Amino acid sequence: MKKIFCAVLALFIGINAVFAQETVTINQLDAQTSKAIKIKKVDGVKGVTVIKGKKFQGKDIASVNLEQFVNKEIKIDFGCQIKIVSKSKPDYKISWLVNDFQAGFPVIAEKRVKTGEWTTLTGSKYVSLSGKRMLLLSTNGFDLESMTIYIKDVSVRITGDDLSGKQPELTPWMEAQSLKDVLHPYFDYFGIATTWQGEFNTEKIQKGLGRHCDSITTGNEFKPDFIFRWNTPTSFNEFVSEKGKKIKVPVKTPGLDICGQIMQTAKDNGLEMRGHVLVWHSQTPKWFFMENYSTDSNAKYVDKATMNARMEWYIKTMMDYVAKWEKENNGGKHIIKTWDVVNEAMSDSATESKWLREDSDWYKIYQSEEFIINAFRYANKYAPKDVKLAYNDYNSYQGSANKSGGKTNAILKIVDLIQKTPDARIDVVGMQSHVQIGYPNVTGTDSFETAVQRFIEKGVNVQVTELDIANGDSMYSSIRLKDKYKEYFEMFIRNRKTDTKKGIEGVTIWGITDDGTWLNALQMYKGKKQYPLLFTGDFKCKPAFFGIIEAAQEAEK
Ligand code: GLA
Repeated sequence: MKKIFCAVLALFIGINAVFAQETVTINQLDAQTSKAIKIKKVDGVKGVTVIKGKKFQGKDIASVNLEQFVNKEIKIDFGCQIKIVSKSKPDYKISWLVNDFQAGFPVIAEKRVKTGEWTTLTGSKYVSLSGKRMLLLSTNGFDLESMTIYIKDVSVRITGDDLSGKQPELTPWMEAQSLKDVLHPYFDYFGIATTWQGEFNTEKIQKGLGRHCDSITTGNEFKPDFIFRWNTPTSFNEFVSEKGKKIKVPVKTPGLDICGQIMQTAKDNGLEMRGHVLVWHSQTPKWFFMENYSTDSNAKYVDKATMNARMEWYIKTMMDYVAKWEKENNGGKHIIKTWDVVNEAMSDSATESKWLREDSDWYKIYQSEEFIINAFRYANKYAPKDVKLAYNDYNSYQGSANKSGGKTNAILKIVDLIQKTPDARIDVVGMQSHVQIGYPNVTGTDSFETAVQRFIEKGVNVQVTELDIANGDSMYSSIRLKDKYKEYFEMFIRNRKTDTKKGIEGVTIWGITDDGTWLNALQMYKGKKQYPLLFTGDFKCKPAFFGIIEAAQEAEK
């Protein structure tokens, strides 16, 4: 019984997840209002609406009925030409708004128009229609007895999901244009994150990612928990650190075999990789930080010197494994082109003096940024010189316009300290970019773009490493998501790396289909389904996919 219920539920969610974006165009004002209004030839143009006389005072004189879109989130693109003839005022403020009290009467287009002249009004806005609404000309404060209003060329384009209730025809991902091909003029790579089990180990996903991507990031398999595969070490080797310190290190790193299979599969499908991640407070076994690798609840942290040696060993182990694999299986050519050396080490509420994440085993041992600097020293020592080293974090645009405090400044501070350390190297800031439709601003003074530009000024390149766009508390709207992806990619392209300047060198989307997004497992989105990605559960291209294509096609090469 339970099983049947689940199947039905899955089917329901499946259908629910398919959204057809449609556009309806309306080119005239409502018949109901226009009945009273005269349609005439004015200034040599036929079909001009003429509004004149006291009988219109206090009435919705010119409106477009939006009743059919009730309960929908829609985008209204509006345009018209208007002329006011009046002896009493030189100009009038004209507003077209939706009569939705709950939404605060959203204004779609507004302009001050000079009396006696034809003026074009245009505007565009997303609105959620909670009831039967109208788009109307607001005549608040107008004395209709002494003026005449002329309106022509009305155009109202309504775009939204499932406006007609028809099932959509979405393009399967294997039939759509290749995203990587479209983006090649701008970036070194385009990528999508995947996981091995049930995803990248299947032919279907390999083919799809091969078609659309240059690069993949594995969501889990290169993280310490996966490298040790949740084993507690029982046998040890000796490792001698750069400082000559001898420590015991685990013999077994069983997860590396899967890393090898992943690299082979990437190679077979023409894909490169981002290595994710070496030093992180999460998905790293607790025993890695403890004296004698103990799992006891009252075990003590090791001292800094021991932790330095363990970190050095771990980074060297990963680099050696990859280098050996690349030598034996890929003629020494790199599959992994960038490493996320350190992930998420900055505080969520960074100030000038308290800027590091403190709920981290790394921080608890070091009480400073020393481990971050050391990670970039060891990575520099053991990684090939042409493999890029990245610091990766979320909310990296937080407080981007602030002089001090906030995450952008905290990241700039660590970049600076690494740059000043002679034997360390940092090439890239990885901006994770788990963003929401409404936050952050993509462009403007305090925005994602501000952060990108500040990182670039600091002399590093930027990689967008984990992009997904949550609808958050808002109702999902495929058109809104499409426009947001487009806006992001327009900004990425504008700030791209060129031969002569630093910039964004690649973008990775965090996941393939909405069914697989990590966001729906988060407590904060309980009961609010998120649709943040480019493909539906059945591997069809959502409008968001075409938002990226449009951004690429419309940009200057
Ligand atoms: C962070 C990490 C990723 C992944 C996501 C959640 O962004 O960097 O590796 O764990 O969280 O999926």
